[in-house]
Amino acid sequence: MGTTDKKSKNAAPKNGGHVIMDLPKNIYRSVIREKTTLRDQSESEPVSDNFFVHVLPVSPLEHPRFGYTLGLGVISMSLFLIVAATGMLMLFYYVPSTEQAYERIVDLNATVSFGRIVRNIHRWGAHGMVAAVFLHMCRVFFTGAYKPPREFSWVIGVFLFLVTLVFSYTGYLLTWDQLAYWGTTVGTSIAGYTPILGDTIQFLMLGGTTVGQETLLRFYVLHVFVLPLLMVTLLGLHFWRIRKDGGLAYQNGNERD
Ligand code: HEM
Repeated sequence: MGTTDKKSKNAAPKNGGHVIMDLPKNIYRSVIREKTTLRDQSESEPVSDNFFVHVLPVSPLEHPRFGYTLGLGVISMSLFLIVAATGMLMLFYYVPSTEQAYERIVDLNATVSFGRIVRNIHRWGAHGMVAAVFLHMCRVFFTGAYKPPREFSWVIGVFLFLVTLVFSYTGYLLTWDQLAYWGTTVGTSIAGYTPILGDTIQFLMLGGTTVGQETLLRFYVLHVFVLPLLMVTLLGLHFWRIRKDGGLAYQNGNERD
């Protein structure tokens, strides 16, 4: 069927087109698509337009190919859920104060029931998530799955990767030990070398001129409230786009029809 015709509607302009003039229109098209690009829309509407079943495949895949995705997106998502669940448990015990934070972590390790295992699952889960998201991004790059019509999924993905890294960085300070203190001192000093805005950025990150109570509180609020909210919103967008773009791009470049 006319897959090529449908694809070309959303394709980037060829050389010689008004690349700059067409930019706003092309960005708009990559974000809001009126139709799914890969199949006859009327066939998929009963599933894709229904809130309760829209996450299910419209039709079963003929040849599910584990070797194509390596399950890395699903692994990233699973690790995020594990890290979120263990993080929520630790919220019951942790106190974001320079007086108490370190002792709370020591107690969590030594005396609180299941404290050590919950903390370790959270730490290792977070390290694993950084690795899995990075490898997922490499997989998407090497299979060329970022190409139209999936360019907006790639852009959301870049933000997901950044949010994952900022999660790790802000979590690092919360233990309030020597490693955390000096790691944050070095990181915020590097940010201070940003051209023009360096001092402002450093001041905003620290909440002052040195790492202290204000910094700990800021990193805590980012880690337990702002970043989770951002992550869940971006993940929702990511999965919505994957569905609207007709599922996964295939290894050999052929789209599902
Ligand atoms: C928390 C981070 C992320 C999660 C949980 C996630 C989850 C997923 C899942 C479950 C899929 C389905 C296929 C698969 O399992 O590989 C997928 C596909 C995709 N992801 Fe992600 N992802 C994340 C980050 C990223 C990043 C960092 C990028 C790129 C910068 C990205 C770009 C894409 C693209 C373009 C697809 C469609 C791939 C295709 O059609 O073959 N994602 N993602």
